[in-house]
Amino acid sequence: MSTNQQPLTINNQPLTNFKIGVLGAGSMGSGIVQIAATQKHQTVLVDLNEDALNKAAANLKNILARMVEKEKIDQATADVILGRITFSKNISDFQECDMVIEAIIENLEVKKKVFAEMESVVSPDCILASNTSSLSIASIAAACKKPERVIGIHFFNPAPLMPLVEIIPAVQTSEETKNTSRALIDSWGKVTVLAKDTPGFIVNRVARPFYGEALKIYEEGVADFATIDWAMTEIGGFKMGPFTLMDYIGNDINYTVTETVFAAFYYDPRYKPSFTQKRHAEAGWLGRKTGRGYYNYAEGVEQPQPKKDEKLGKEICDRILVMLMNEAIDALFLNIASREDIDLAMTKGVNYPKGLLAWAEEMGLANVLAKLEHLFAEYGEDRYRPSVLLRRMVKSLP
Ligand SMILES: NC(=O)c1ccc[n+]([C@@H]2O[C@H](COP(=O)([O-])OP(=O)(O)OC[C@H]3O[C@@H](n4cnc5c(N)ncnc54)[C@H](O)[C@@H]3O)[C@@H](O)[C@H]2O)c1
Repeated sequence: MSTNQQPLTINNQPLTNFKIGVLGAGSMGSGIVQIAATQKHQTVLVDLNEDALNKAAANLKNILARMVEKEKIDQATADVILGRITFSKNISDFQECDMVIEAIIENLEVKKKVFAEMESVVSPDCILASNTSSLSIASIAAACKKPERVIGIHFFNPAPLMPLVEIIPAVQTSEETKNTSRALIDSWGKVTVLAKDTPGFIVNRVARPFYGEALKIYEEGVADFATIDWAMTEIGGFKMGPFTLMDYIGNDINYTVTETVFAAFYYDPRYKPSFTQKRHAEAGWLGRKTGRGYYNYAEGVEQPQPKKDEKLGKEICDRILVMLMNEAIDALFLNIASREDIDLAMTKGVNYPKGLLAWAEEMGLANVLAKLEHLFAEYGEDRYRPSVLLRRMVKSLP
């Protein structure tokens, strides 16, 4: 969790003196560089692709101009922020950086290669961080001569707006790298949580049933997209229903994350991907970005209306919720993160209305277990197995 007792210095250097490098000028890299420059750091943004650099520079200018328009900052401040960013095609410009955050394509071999390259350029104390969503930090660190300087620093999209950052030390990461990284990101006003280097870290692991169980409920013909979305927003209190959210994220991206997590967990049925989503992705119905996903976003198209049946809505909502709670409890059981950090991650990273562990207690742990046992007995599928920790928690109830 973020702490208010942030050290004012790291290695006897004021935090703001840290020079920050960012590799990859795509949506994440340009967001991260915007945060660092706004937090008064000299920054270097490197991308091999000149178009990507030009686009990032133009985007950043636009964002700052809009902030001036809305009187959030004045023109002089906008100019100073932009002036703190150097745009470059050359990794050797990271030479004076104290930390470099990598945000290039999600490919382990490519990331390993660039980490080795970066290490040959930077100072011996420079921290090398990856913003990967799904790859093992231990594998990336293994590509370096000093793996103890490598860590995962996982921002959420859009990085300047989303408060959560997952800090993921690999088995090789030193305490110093972990503490310095966390203190630095805390000093940027972010909410940091510490996560184990396991597939999906906290958020992308615990959130899987929000999509997977919703898709299964649809596939079984229990309800349509609009009704499931209505149940989760109106009854569950979520900001967006699962289908609206998958359309927003993109069915290609959401499907790939699910498939990656499924394989990384040695095909645990809890994370099994859905044919409905696969077909939507194959059809090019990716969501908002292609004008069609589970919903049709073309102008003038009437949106389907939910069946507002309270009893059905509650059944849908409870089924998805207990699966989410079970996932959060299992993450705690396996020491993926602390109880506090698991709840913070879901409220600050994906805007859940409540932390899942606190919510499970509110719903009644015995009640959550009973609902899961009912699903487990009815389906006979390992997917619905209750976490051992949930059973223990219920057993120890007064
Ligand atoms: N998009 C998200 O929602 C999101 C959220 C959290 C984390 N991430 C992670 O962040 C990383 C970047 O994602 P993104 O969505 O910003 O990608 P993106 O495709 O928008 O940008 C990637 C950039 O990296 C550049 N690049 C590729 N190979 C390079 C190399 N060898 N050297 C220098 N630059 C190179 C590309 O030119 C491109 O500009 C990925 O690891 C992704 O998993 C993404």
